[in-house]
Amino acid sequence: MSSTVVIGTQWGDEGKGRVVDVYAANAAMVVRYQGGDNAGHTVIIGDQRYALHLIPSGIVRQKPSILGNGMVINPKSLLKEIADLEARGLTVRPYIYLSEDAHLIMPYHLALDAASERAMGKGKIGTTMKGIGPAYVDKYSRTHGLRVGDLRNAEYFRTRLAAIVEDKNVILSKIYSADTFDAGAIFDEYLGYYAEIGGMICDTAAMVDAALRHGDDVVFEGANATMLDIDHGTYPYVTSSTPTAGGASVGSGIGPTRLDRVIGVVKAYTSRVGEGPFPTELKNATGDRIRELGHEYGTTTGRPRRCGWLDLCVVRKAARVNGLDSLAITHLDVLGEFDDIPLCVAYDIDGRRVETFPSALWEAECAQPVYEMLPGWREPIAGCRSFAELPCGAQAYLNRITELTGVPIRMVTVGSEREQTILFDTLPLSR
Ligand code: GDP
Ligand code: IMO
Ligand code: MG
Repeated sequence: MSSTVVIGTQWGDEGKGRVVDVYAANAAMVVRYQGGDNAGHTVIIGDQRYALHLIPSGIVRQKPSILGNGMVINPKSLLKEIADLEARGLTVRPYIYLSEDAHLIMPYHLALDAASERAMGKGKIGTTMKGIGPAYVDKYSRTHGLRVGDLRNAEYFRTRLAAIVEDKNVILSKIYSADTFDAGAIFDEYLGYYAEIGGMICDTAAMVDAALRHGDDVVFEGANATMLDIDHGTYPYVTSSTPTAGGASVGSGIGPTRLDRVIGVVKAYTSRVGEGPFPTELKNATGDRIRELGHEYGTTTGRPRRCGWLDLCVVRKAARVNGLDSLAITHLDVLGEFDDIPLCVAYDIDGRRVETFPSALWEAECAQPVYEMLPGWREPIAGCRSFAELPCGAQAYLNRITELTGVPIRMVTVGSEREQTILFDTLPLSR
């Protein structure tokens, strides 16, 4: 038995999908355990580009794909994603297993997400507008959540939905002056979805447990990222779930003793979409250049991503919170044209040197990065397939990351294509 959790260490879009794709090769199944279609994970094979939102990236290798109990699922999005992938020639439906305990994203969740963001004005979170926050609010309220398994009992679903929609309409009309919903129309719509997805609904926790007992490899695919975690991220500029490694246990229904290793995916620089603190952000031509070189536009929303240098205060925090065993460094190729590469090793906060990410929003907002300058390598590395082939400067950059975080690097990627991946058995320390 071997279970591997892959999580994002920064603010998302580190390249989790393509790292999962590597580990999925030998896995019996890949499990998503939190979040919903706010995620956008990319796998590129040759000239084929697959964008995954709800379905685990293992589907590209035609692996059983678990949507775990910790997720929030918009069935309309799920059906669209299945249709898109099937149109690309993948077999999808027989591989999808949907937890009966996952919560449903309903049309009023999308409306509330939009209305709340609109009402917040400048103070908005900058959500993906997928209804994620409102769906988790209803889950935790216990009074207004609807689960995937509830679709099995039409009368139960209809009765609860009617009462919930009544309350939502009051909030939408009275607080937000927004349009209201017709419970009957939603019921019919969701019954239609049930006809399509009913056969995928099952006890996914028991499936994962059985695979692990059988000695199979299982990969847990984190969505969003550590700094977007509801507890450990830059609150309130976070998502509403637990992307960190602990979430893999709760969100898939297996005990924490069943998780063997945790891999943290680190983009060789930093990007962020949406609002919130980002100490190493470059609001200048260099930031724009990184955005262009890295094609930093959202997989889910198409929004331009904010870009900046690598922040090791963030990665150190991720190492601690997730208990990282190793790092996968992605996008190293993007740094190939810079003379010097600043690495943020600490912050100056009101004259104090701080080496981990502060909890208080106002401290994070005024944290000044303390940079160590590393020489750039100024050559393309997209063709490198081993540590030895990387230029000295790139090797030194990787080694410094390990030295300053205490976590070994086991994978480096030098381009978005599946083959542009370098795997290490042992920590590379020098040429
Ligand atoms: P995820 O959400 O963590 O799975 O990441 P996304 O798929 O949202 O964003 C990562 C983007 O970077 C995608 O467009 C990938 O194809 C691309 N990408 C992944 N790894 C690399 C890499 O090593 N180099 C470059 N240049 N692009 C990469
Ligand atoms: P992947 O899995 C980048 C960000 C949003 C917003 C905040 C809250 O592709 O890395 P939400 O819609 O979740 O309520 O938005 O979280 N966010 C992401 N940013 N990548 C993601 O996923 C994200 N998922 C959520 O931009 O700032
Ligand atoms: Mg993404």
